[in-house]
Amino acid sequence: MDFKSHIDPLNIPKHVAIIMDGNGRWAKKQGEDRIFGHYEGVNSVREIVEACGEIGVRFLTLYAFSTENWNRPKEEVDALMELLVSTIAMETPNLNKKGVKLRVIGDIESLPTSCQAELQESIAATAANTTVTLILALSYSSKWEITNAVKQIAQQVVNNKLTVKDIQAKHIEAYLSTNEWPDPELMIRTSGEHRISNFLLWQLAYAEFYFTDILWPEFRKQDFFRAVLSYQKRERRFGLTSSQISPNSHS
Ligand code: IPE
Ligand code: IPE
Ligand code: MG
Repeated sequence: MDFKSHIDPLNIPKHVAIIMDGNGRWAKKQGEDRIFGHYEGVNSVREIVEACGEIGVRFLTLYAFSTENWNRPKEEVDALMELLVSTIAMETPNLNKKGVKLRVIGDIESLPTSCQAELQESIAATAANTTVTLILALSYSSKWEITNAVKQIAQQVVNNKLTVKDIQAKHIEAYLSTNEWPDPELMIRTSGEHRISNFLLWQLAYAEFYFTDILWPEFRKQDFFRAVLSYQKRERRFGLTSSQISPNSHS
């Protein structure tokens, strides 16, 4: 089935977040080292960024490396960091060609300096692009992000810039690293795992979740379009009743 042609152009999620999972298992299935799966995963990233451009998804957040992933074997962490540097360097012209703006969220200072420099360069080189904003979550965890927000709000209170009774959700949002973008409407996780692994806990409060058994290196445009179609079939009620959402329904 050609999923893309069935997508309603008037109901495209503005922001899609993806937990790209299953690289290691995919590589093992091929009788290869886990790292091979990470290399292959880059092709899926390229495809999905392109797919977003094709249907008009404005923001794509990809979970590429979690705070917890630092605890993996050193060889794997080192290989992932090297892959990050080489991929960013190689892909920046392609991002520019496609009008993609690169941004990052996470504890960027914990990355090797070569990674930080490459990221800064690519962020600057793509800053004027307007088609899709690609947000890489690197050394990211939601608990880390929310803890940082709490510290900054506490400091505002200490500095008499804010009183405790005035603290609202919007203040917390203002201190999250995603504050300039809308919350994702759709969150996809590949590889058959049904958990969010410390990813965007606050921002996914009302996201639709889509889980697929496909391993990330095999995730292609068709699979992405299928996830968007699934999203479009859902009724997002935000706590209301179905008849409040569509007054002609009978439920
Ligand atoms: C996701 O694939 C990529 C990263 C977490 C960096 P994994 O490396 O988690 O692959 P599996 O889940 O072990 O198969
Ligand atoms: C989540 O995948 C992090 C990324 C995709 C970067 P993991 O493979 O690290 O998550 P768990 O350990 O299975 O929850
Ligand atoms: Mg995994």
